[in-house]
Amino acid sequence: MASITPVTPSKKFARVGAHSHIRGLGLDDKLKAKPVADGMVGQTEAREAAGIIVRMIKAGKMAGRAILLAGPPGTGKTAIAVAIARELGRDVPFITLSGSEIYSSELKKTEVLMQAIRKAIGVRLHETRKVYEGELTQFDVRTTRHPYNPYQQVPESARITLATKSESRSFNVGSSIVVSMLNQGIRVGDVIQIDAETGRVIRLGRSEEVAEKYEIAGYGEKPIPRPSGPVEKEKEFVYVVTLHDLDQLHAQSRGGFFSLLFGGGETKEIDPEIRRRVDEYVKQRVEEGTAEIIPGVFFLDDVSMLDIEAFSFLSSVMESELAPIIIFATNRGMTTIRGTDLQAPHGMPLDLLDRLLIINTRLYREDEIREILKIRANEEEVNLTEEALGYLTKIGAETSLRYAVQLLSPAAEKAKAEGRSIVDKEDIEAVKELFSDVRKSVEYVKQYEEYLLR
Ligand SMILES: Nc1ncnc2c1ncn2[C@@H]1O[C@H](COP(=O)(O)OP(=O)(O)O)[C@@H](O)[C@H]1O
Ligand SMILES: [Mg+2]
Repeated sequence: MASITPVTPSKKFARVGAHSHIRGLGLDDKLKAKPVADGMVGQTEAREAAGIIVRMIKAGKMAGRAILLAGPPGTGKTAIAVAIARELGRDVPFITLSGSEIYSSELKKTEVLMQAIRKAIGVRLHETRKVYEGELTQFDVRTTRHPYNPYQQVPESARITLATKSESRSFNVGSSIVVSMLNQGIRVGDVIQIDAETGRVIRLGRSEEVAEKYEIAGYGEKPIPRPSGPVEKEKEFVYVVTLHDLDQLHAQSRGGFFSLLFGGGETKEIDPEIRRRVDEYVKQRVEEGTAEIIPGVFFLDDVSMLDIEAFSFLSSVMESELAPIIIFATNRGMTTIRGTDLQAPHGMPLDLLDRLLIINTRLYREDEIREILKIRANEEEVNLTEEALGYLTKIGAETSLRYAVQLLSPAAEKAKAEGRSIVDKEDIEAVKELFSDVRKSVEYVKQYEEYLLR
């Protein structure tokens, strides 16, 4: 019997992040917040303020400044930062770091901050390169015997012809180009581009000429026209990299043979001298008009975890010429600045506070909590009864929104275990007993601390 087993499509693995429902700030053209839009609910003033910030960033009027999102836990500070990133679009770098992360790596904390800052500054580089471009009309590969294996033939060189609408030129190309072409499955009738300096070959697509002649039903690929103009031409390429990418590139080329072999690793500290040279190089390119700097956003969450040393480092960075826009977030009011015994608003030094635009997030009303929970349930594909949603809303209002959000997926698991696809109030009640919110958990543990001290 022939063995045929049907393949059941594997379940799509979806990791649903806590902010995956946020698609933007949900503002209209006049920067007014719509009540519910782009996954955002309520918190209108903060969203409108964030909308102005986005405009200022795009207009290049924010460089060297900083913003502070301050408000109680679970009021959407991180959600708003994520929304700002979405509004800025793909080319603008957005880097997130939590205050505690600067202590967790093998690197010095100022180095962690510096790397994050340099990742948050983009550079758009324009390169003009000489390329040979055209439709491949001849591809004759010459092979030779393998140097170590006499039974094997390997490509040695090739004669190729590239044609445009106006001319046709032939070249002899060496083995590395031939191998690259063969590996990409390039054949006569493809439109290709070869970098004159490096020999890098790019397949641009199938030429319309051959597609029309021989290939009636296409290969699922839309043919492209045969290029016009000369075969040899100057082409402009645009790359977006970050200052950190450039730092690493330089550090690696300087690290010599071993760092190339062993990758040189992300975790290495970068010599300030390398950064200085990268800055010089970028500035020179900007002056020549072949590069633009794109200041991005560095979001530093839980800022009260930073100590005085980290703060003074950040202050000095904000003064420098190449600085990203920094968005801080905190849920602390008056508190000590770490590393000192000074009390200060949000645990931040005054000189830094002076330079901040502060946006406050406020606690949600019940109807807003309900709306956010509905969006999250939808995002996590959890079906709730009206009663369950009402109960979860109450929990959100009494304890915290984050706790209520977090109960969604255990409750769905509970319902599933009992063979139901819809979560009802009992499921919420059950998981509420099983999982604590932070306040309850702290109170519980504290009880035993007191017991042990007695
Ligand atoms: N206004 C809002 N609209 C939609 N979702 C929100 C809103 N505010 C918070 N959330 C969601 O609620 C949860 C808790 O908010 P979060 O941004 O983590 O709060 P914070 O950073 O202030 O502690 C997250 O899943 C977040 O995406
Ligand atoms: Mg947060």
